[in-house]
Amino acid sequence: MLFDTRFHDDLARYPARPWLREQSIWAVAVMRFGQRNDQRPTGLLRRVLDRVYWLAFRVVETATGITLPKSTRIGGGLRIHHFGCVIVHPDAVLGRNCTLRQGNTIGNRRPGGPVPQLGNGVELGAYAQVLGDVKVGDNALIGAMSVVLHDVPPGATAVGSPARVIERTAVASDSAAAGGTPSASK
Ligand SMILES: CC(C)(COP(=O)(O)OP(=O)(O)OC[C@H]1O[C@@H](n2cnc3c(N)ncnc32)[C@H](O)[C@@H]1OP(=O)(O)O)[C@@H](O)C(=O)NCCC(=O)NCCS
Repeated sequence: MLFDTRFHDDLARYPARPWLREQSIWAVAVMRFGQRNDQRPTGLLRRVLDRVYWLAFRVVETATGITLPKSTRIGGGLRIHHFGCVIVHPDAVLGRNCTLRQGNTIGNRRPGGPVPQLGNGVELGAYAQVLGDVKVGDNALIGAMSVVLHDVPPGATAVGSPARVIERTAVASDSAAAGGTPSASK
């Protein structure tokens, strides 16, 4: 098996034949390849494939501007719309079926500081930043350009800098269109 089993769930959230249509799938595939390799018994094959992983990671990171290290704990069903300036800290935790977009950062507030934990079905708008010791609850939605510095409850929508939880006018129609998960336009 080349990829971690979660890659099937990632692929299911992409359109058919994404390899030449969605650059972000390259970064997701390399991450799952690295995670699968880390599950192998130690030995020559694992060491060789780890070199392959690091080379592929650097090439894809440079080409797409997506930094998605294999040590990040990310549940299956990761979807990244577009590419460029997507940075996920190696110690960050993301649940299943999370959605990222261009310009997202999930990282610490200062070097060596704590990093965010995102629940299942969390969706970030373009250029949203989630920084520091922050928990974002299941199915929370973070608006474009928002900076999240405090916890966001499950199902909430947070916008602004620093982000604050808002009442939305369009939640019902968005949720229906996205099969129950709050969703902004692609
Ligand atoms: C967060 C979001 C989903 C809310 O959408 P919505 O339900 O239509 O929002 P509403 O119209 O109910 O807005 C509620 C309030 O939040 C404000 N708001 C909405 N999104 C905001 C944002 N990203 N930053 C700051 N304030 C925002 C609105 O101005 C409004 O404030 P007001 O009541 O004082 O006028 C949406 O604005 C968003 O940011 N989606 C991300 C889209 C994206 O990333 N697109 C990129 C595609 S490539």
